[in-house]
Amino acid sequence: MSDTTPERLRQQVADAGDPWQPDNVYFQRAEARMDAQWAGLVYPFIRHCDFSDTLDLACGHGRNSTKLLGLATRLTLIDVQPGNIEICRQRFRDHPNVTCLVGNGFGMQPIPDVSLTLIYCFDAMVHFYPEVVRSYLRDAARVLQRGGRAFMHHSNYPQTTIWWSNPHSRNTMTHTLFATYAEEAGLLVLQQKVLNWGSDVDLDCLSLVEKI
Ligand SMILES: C[S@@+](CC[C@H](N)C(=O)[O-])C[C@H]1O[C@@H](n2cnc3c(N)ncnc32)[C@H](O)[C@@H]1O
Repeated sequence: MSDTTPERLRQQVADAGDPWQPDNVYFQRAEARMDAQWAGLVYPFIRHCDFSDTLDLACGHGRNSTKLLGLATRLTLIDVQPGNIEICRQRFRDHPNVTCLVGNGFGMQPIPDVSLTLIYCFDAMVHFYPEVVRSYLRDAARVLQRGGRAFMHHSNYPQTTIWWSNPHSRNTMTHTLFATYAEEAGLLVLQQKVLNWGSDVDLDCLSLVEKI
């Protein structure tokens, strides 16, 4: 895939990001699934990571952040939807170590260079366009400390059909293309786990990459 332009990225961010307004029924339903997903799927995959300076990327209403809060010294939340970030600001207002930021949808500005030990992204990147995933991986190489890791739950659905018509609204991505993008960004792919989502076999992938 050739390099994209900021304008095209902005269009793709809007196309895949606009449905996630704060009143989307997803948020309430997903909250109820967090304990089981964390214990059965997520934490076993990331338990050896250094959580001290963690970013919850595409945080939604912060259900993952409630788990990360107990592990992180500093926790930053980014989402492209201002309404979701406002909900997180209220939810975590009693936690001075939590910072909530609206992002541009394809990079982690204003996170400083070489500052994070972990980028965490669950149940969100599965909807992002490939060029947006690639852009985030490039920026991950900027913001991660050496030895820092990015945990990314992404699509493994190869069809180039319209994302919202695909199973579970997955965008186009494969575990091999993701690994190519990570390596191109200078990140080491430590582990990938292809998984079923609901009854859809091998629809998703968990990837753990490291800044070397
Ligand atoms: C399905 S929700 C998942 C939220 C959260 N990760 C969770 O597990 O509850 C997808 C989230 O990604 C956010 N989002 C969509 N596109 C984004 C992008 N390009 N960059 C950052 N956030 C984005 C949406 O606003 C929404 O909050």
